[in-house]
This record gives sequence, structure tokens and C-alpha cells, in this order.
Amino acid sequence: MKAADIRSTFLNYFESKGHQIVASSPVVPGDDPTLLFTNAGMNQFKDVFLGFDKRPYSRAATAQKCIRAGGKHNDLENVGYTARHHTFFEMLGNFSFGDYFKQDAIKYAWELLTEVFKLPADKLWATVYAEDDEAYEIWTKEIGLPAERVVRIGDNKGARYASDNFWMMGDTGPCGPCSEIFYDFGPSIAGGPPGSPDEDGDRYTEVWNNVFMQFNRRIDENGNYVMDPLPKPSVDTGMGLERLARVLQNVATNYDIDLFVNLMAAAKREVEAAGGQDVDKDSPSLKAIADHIRACSFTIADGVVPSNEGRGYVLRRIARRAIRHGYKLGARTPFFYKLVDALTAEMGKAYPELVAKQRRVTEVLKQEEERFFLTIANGMEILEAALVTLAQAGGKVLDGELAFKLHDTYGFPLDLTADVLRERGLAVDEAGFNAAMNRQREQARAAGKFKMAQGLEYSGVPTDFKGYEKIWVEDAKVAALYVDGSPVEVIRAGDDAVVVLEATPFYAESGGQCGDAGWLMNGQAGFNVDDTFKIQADVFGHHGRVIEGEIRVGDTIDARVNGNRRSAVTRNHSATHLMHKALREVLGNHVQQKGSQVDAEKTRFDFAHNAPLTDEEIRKVEQIVNREVLTNAETQARVMGIEDAQKTGAMMLFGEKYGDSVRVLDIGSSRELCGGTHVARTGDIGFFKIVMEGGVAAGVRRVEAVSGENATNYVLARDAALGEVASVLKAPISEVPAKLAQTLEHVRSLEKEIAALKGKLASSQGDALLEQAVDVNGIKVLAALLDGADVPALREAVDKLRDKLGSAAVVMAAVNEGKVSLIAGVTADLTAKVKAGDLVNFVAQQVGGKGGGRPDMAQAGGTDAAALPAALAGVQAWVASKLA
Ligand code: ALA
Repeated sequence: MKAADIRSTFLNYFESKGHQIVASSPVVPGDDPTLLFTNAGMNQFKDVFLGFDKRPYSRAATAQKCIRAGGKHNDLENVGYTARHHTFFEMLGNFSFGDYFKQDAIKYAWELLTEVFKLPADKLWATVYAEDDEAYEIWTKEIGLPAERVVRIGDNKGARYASDNFWMMGDTGPCGPCSEIFYDFGPSIAGGPPGSPDEDGDRYTEVWNNVFMQFNRRIDENGNYVMDPLPKPSVDTGMGLERLARVLQNVATNYDIDLFVNLMAAAKREVEAAGGQDVDKDSPSLKAIADHIRACSFTIADGVVPSNEGRGYVLRRIARRAIRHGYKLGARTPFFYKLVDALTAEMGKAYPELVAKQRRVTEVLKQEEERFFLTIANGMEILEAALVTLAQAGGKVLDGELAFKLHDTYGFPLDLTADVLRERGLAVDEAGFNAAMNRQREQARAAGKFKMAQGLEYSGVPTDFKGYEKIWVEDAKVAALYVDGSPVEVIRAGDDAVVVLEATPFYAESGGQCGDAGWLMNGQAGFNVDDTFKIQADVFGHHGRVIEGEIRVGDTIDARVNGNRRSAVTRNHSATHLMHKALREVLGNHVQQKGSQVDAEKTRFDFAHNAPLTDEEIRKVEQIVNREVLTNAETQARVMGIEDAQKTGAMMLFGEKYGDSVRVLDIGSSRELCGGTHVARTGDIGFFKIVMEGGVAAGVRRVEAVSGENATNYVLARDAALGEVASVLKAPISEVPAKLAQTLEHVRSLEKEIAALKGKLASSQGDALLEQAVDVNGIKVLAALLDGADVPALREAVDKLRDKLGSAAVVMAAVNEGKVSLIAGVTADLTAKVKAGDLVNFVAQQVGGKGGGRPDMAQAGGTDAAALPAALAGVQAWVASKLA
């Protein structure tokens, strides 16, 4: 029976038993942050089990794409080495949402396996959760499986909990005891029955797991795991399609089933085309490749791309593991991405997304593979050399530092290195690896951004800055290269470096304007520039990382600034000049620049001024600048001697050192000395908006402003917020202020009214309370709770009661939002013996509070409302004791 027929037979069987056939969900669970990848058929029904989601059916069956390569269920390290593990596989499952339970689940499974798929009953074993007598009875009594083939297995057996008969999808979520069904391949294959010491062999293979979902495992407020019962006992089952196919097709491993035949052949063919010779068709490496192309293709088809974190990193690890296995078989050029076609041919019919995304999957994998092939040879050479040294020393564990270097410089994920070691019976020092990784993170943080640039030795020509006219320079000559603060001759993929060019369009951070970012590239190398700064007064360093290839001193390379970013910075810088001028116009000529910082997001400008700007002043500045923008005047830059520049009346910054020749910049009606990059016309600024005004030091104010698209987005966001307010108030925007004032006025008058009503309520309750006053040695004692009262109402009530009761001691309490308020009042004739302060504290201390006041009137508060009734009940005795 072909895999495709097994799939449809399974679904048809359960359809005939009243199950709804539901499509597979994506391998990337869109709405479950607790899951890295879909790891079981039940994932898409998680909320149904928990009772949060209802479906029109209470029974379902699926063929689900699953990935177990990270998180709670991870089979990656076994793939290739066992007959039955995969990173990607298809899980056939039937589900009951509070419908049938253990008995029917087991009966269906048994009938399907023995009567439909016709597996010989005497080859089947079952396991049950150790304490699950019910399941044990069903297997032995109702199904009639001999007791020696029903094995009880408990939990707490450590990490291998997938076979400990208590199944969980992750650390949290629905879970329950389970019963697994095993198939015995016979004595020709090594391995023992479940629960035996050699159960990990391939002879007895689990084919089906029936989970009796009963609990939700979650983390409580104290951070502990707790198990809540599910609303209804349910069933979740899962059968690996590939495993069942192995049984039904009677082949040695999952990789020999029909679904894998073509894929294994394609893997062998492509590895050989890439340099492998006479590859053994059963090699573990081919299995790993055939498995991994499925995991990689399905993840990419569902939207993941290789990266250095999360799902993207799992994808990268799987892809690189496959590539390394190809490399081991002799492949020296990319081969892996070529398998996408064979996979699509094999599985595209069942999973049309493979056909739809075939080109994208191929492209993404190709790029990842080309990238890894740049470094794999060097990395493997280093690893092999280290292994020779290790063998000579008789060691068994590879140094974590070296594993980290392989990771950091050559792109070897830790599990890839571990995989190579496993082949030689060795291991890697993971703790050492993690320590090295943490140290590097620390250093990167400590080094601040790129302060390492300071003090680089350089004796070549000064940088010819071309960035006023263009953002792209071709064939710039590489004048110097630095890694870790020292000059080097060559930098390679993965290196963090500083590059000095003889000519560059990149602006180096100065005059408050941030440095440019962008790219350096030629036919064989690519370098990402993160920032540019001066390593000497007129020498620019481009800081960043080699993405591919290598760059040598003397090479030529194209230097290309990130134009969008530069434009945003430039707009903000030109806007700063206009704002400076406008501030002087609005606030006066004492306004002097004290500091400025311009980047792609915003401009921040500090200046001398004594008072906060009023809204009116801010609006005026904005209007002036935007008017300048609308004139769309052309920017003029003139380089001249400093003295001539002074004569032009250009604004010069006090304390700034200027060279002999300076750049006089006219932007709109502003004129400043400035070396920065600027818009060609003021209109390029687009729109200007101040977003923040505040003080930074005595006599120094700070304004932050945005321009261009940042400014329009800012205004649009505010407009949207205002629109929402207007719609809540049901008023046109222009009427929002009046409507809001009116609403607040209304709220205030309601508050007054409520206070008055509370007073009334309290005094009417007070009348009723008169009856409750008890006679204690001739005086009236009353301790009571006043519903809904606040402190003034309590006070009023105490006053009135005291007046009406004659000789009396009264305590009134109220509870508001869990807080207790207390007022005590004592008539003047009693205060010698009973003080209101003592009385109120007698109650207050029992409700976790304290208070005080005059002998005839005192007030207190407390926090323990639950203790209040008992405290009030004790008042009578307390007063009696004082009078005695
Ligand atoms: N969810 C269960 C499993 O994956 C059926 O084994």
C-alpha cells in the first residue's frame, strides 16, 4: 500500500466513524507563541480541548504536517542514524472533543490496524500509563491482547518523555496519559520491547499513540506548574505515516518506503553531480539529506526564512546539517536546493503549497547554501585538525571555545559540530560553548558601538569625500583594513572590520550628523556598512561585516550609501538649520546652539533659552519652517576662507573650531557654516513637525523634531487618535474640545450628586442602625458597616447617631475597593473612660491599620476587609471593659 493510499484509507475509516476530515494546519503555528513548530496533529485543536473554542463537530481526523526539530519534541540529532526518526513527518490522527474516550479510541485503533490495514495481531504490543488500570483492562479484557504484550510504563523517566506514556505538547497546554501501540519487526532487527533496557532499537517501533487528554498544564501565579482538569475528557491520537508505511510495505527503514525512494535517489544523484563519488545509496547522510529537504521546504513554504534566531535559526540548522552531510559525501558545490523539484514532484499533490512556493523555496535554500559553502571548507579543515589533536591527547570532548569559533566565524551551528563528533564517538563541551557565546555578547555590549575605531594607525592618503554630489562611487581603492583594532591585509566572510577607502560617498559622523550606512561590493565580495566615522580628522572608517567573499588592501570596490536612510538624515539636518533660524526669530537672538544630533529618525537640538516654549511659540516655529519648505529654495554651498565666511554673516557656533577654509551653507533664508549633507531644495524636506520640548540643564532647552515621511506619519497617527476620540464622543473633530469640556463638567456634577446621595443613603441607613445600638452598662454601643459610604458620609452618620443615641460610643465602617475606612465617635460625657482614638484603633489594628483623632471623634483605615466583621463584633465587649 502506497503512502498516499495509507493516508486516504486512514481518513476514510474515521470519516465512516463520524469524524470530520480537517486539513493540515501550517507547520508554523500562527497564533501559538508557546510552540516553535507544529509538533502534533492536536496543535490546531488546542483551544478546542481547553474549551476556549467550539467546532461544529466533536470528532475529527487529520493528516498533519509536523516538525520535531526544536523545543519540547526534538528528533534532529537522531535523523539519519535510526530507521524511524524525522524532523518533518506526517501525523495521522483522530480526535474526540469530549465525545468518545479510552474505550472507543482503543477499539478504533485496533480495528483499523488489524482489520483494515490487516496487521497481524500477534505482532502488536501496547503500552499504558503505569496507573491507568482502565486502559490496561480494555487492552487485556476487551481487545484480548495477551497480558505479556501490554506494558505499563510510568513517567519521570527523564527527558525521553515521549515514551513515558504521559504526553504533553510542550511545557504547557493540554496533556494526559497515553497508550502506545508498537509493531514488532521480528528478531532480525536489534532492539527490545517497550520498557526493556534496549527498547531504543528499531525492532519494536511505536506506530500509534493514543492520548487520553484530561489536563491542562499551566503556570500559576507563583510560577509553579499546575494541572487543571479539562472541561471534558478527550482523545488525541497520532500515527506516523512514514512508520506505518514502513510496516505495511515491509521495508527496512522509513527511508525505504515509496515516499522516499525518489527523494533518496535524487539526493544521491545531486550529491554525486556536486562532486561525491559512488555514494552508498543507504548512507545515513543521504537519509539526513532526504529528511531535511522536506523539513526545510515545508518551513520555507509556510513563511520562515533562515536567520539567527527562533524558527529561522532552526531552519538554518537543519539546512546546514544537510549541507554538511552532502559535504561529507564529497559535494563541493551547492546541491541541496536542487532537491526541491524532486520533493515537489513527490508531495505536491497532497500539499499544493509546495507547488505554489516551489520557486521561492528553491531561491531561499540556494542563497542559504551558497552562503554556507563560502565557509564550510575552512570550518571543516579547522575541525578536522582539532580532532586530530584531540585524538592524540586521547580526549573525548571537543573544546567549547573551538565549537564557538566554528559557530561564530564559520557559521557551524552547535548541533552540526555535535553531529560530526557523534560520527566519531565524541562529544562537545556545551557549557564551554555557552560561556564563550556569553562572553562575546558581553564584550560586544561593553565595546559600545564601534569605539574601537579610535586610535587606528593609518598613514595613507586622506579620504576623498564624494558624498556631497553622489551616493555611489565605483571602483574605490581599499586603503586599509582593520580587525579588532589592528591593521590586516585581508578580511573574510563573517569578519567585523573597519574599511578605509581612498574615495567614498559615505558621510562620516560629525557636526551632529550621524554616519552613513550602506554596502561595499565587487564581483566577489560583499560588506555591510553599519556606520561611518572618522578614524583621523580626514580619514573615514567604514564599520561593518563581511557578508561574503574576501576583501584585500589594494582591491577596488563599489561603495554605495543606503539612499533612503541618507535622505532621511539629510532632510532632518536641513530642517535643523531652518529651525535654528526660526527659534531665533520667535524667541530672540540669545538662542544659541548648544548641541545637535541628527539621524534618520529625528533631529534633536539643544539651545540656550530660559523658559519652556509655549504652544504658541512652538506653532510659530513650525509655521516658519514649513513656509521655508514651501518656498522650495535651492540650497547653496560655497567653500571659502574663514574670514570671507565671517563677512557673509553666516551663523557660527561659539567654541567650534573651524579650519581655514569652510563651507557656507544657505538653506532657505538660513546661513550657517556646516560640513553636513543637505537637501538640494527646501521642498525636499517635505514637512516639519516638532514632537518634543523640554529642559536639559539650567538655561538650556531641547527640541526634537521630525521631517519628511516621519513627520507625515506622526501627524497621521495623531489625527487617527483624535478621530477615535471624536467618534467616541460622537462629535466632529472641530467640536472635540468643547464636547470634552462639557463631558468632564458633566462628570464633575455627577460626582457631586453621588456624594450627596451617599450622604443621604448613609443617614437613612443610620436611622435603621439606631435600633441595633446595644445597651452596655447604661450607654449605647453601636458598631456597624455602612454600605456604599465614603469617609464624609461615615462622619456624618457617626455625628447624627451620636446625637440621637444620647450617651453613646459609635464606630462606623465602610469598605471601598478592598480598603477599610473607620470613624469612631464618643459622646462628651464618656470620653474620660472611652476615647474615640482608642476605640477606632481597637478595630483598626484588627484590620491591618491604624488611626487617631480627638477623644470624641477619630478616624482610621485598614486593608484587611475580611477581618472587619469580627473586629466590629468585639466592640461591645471592649467598651464594657473600659466602663467596668
Ligand atoms: N499528540 C500525540 C503525539 O504526538 C498523539 O504523540
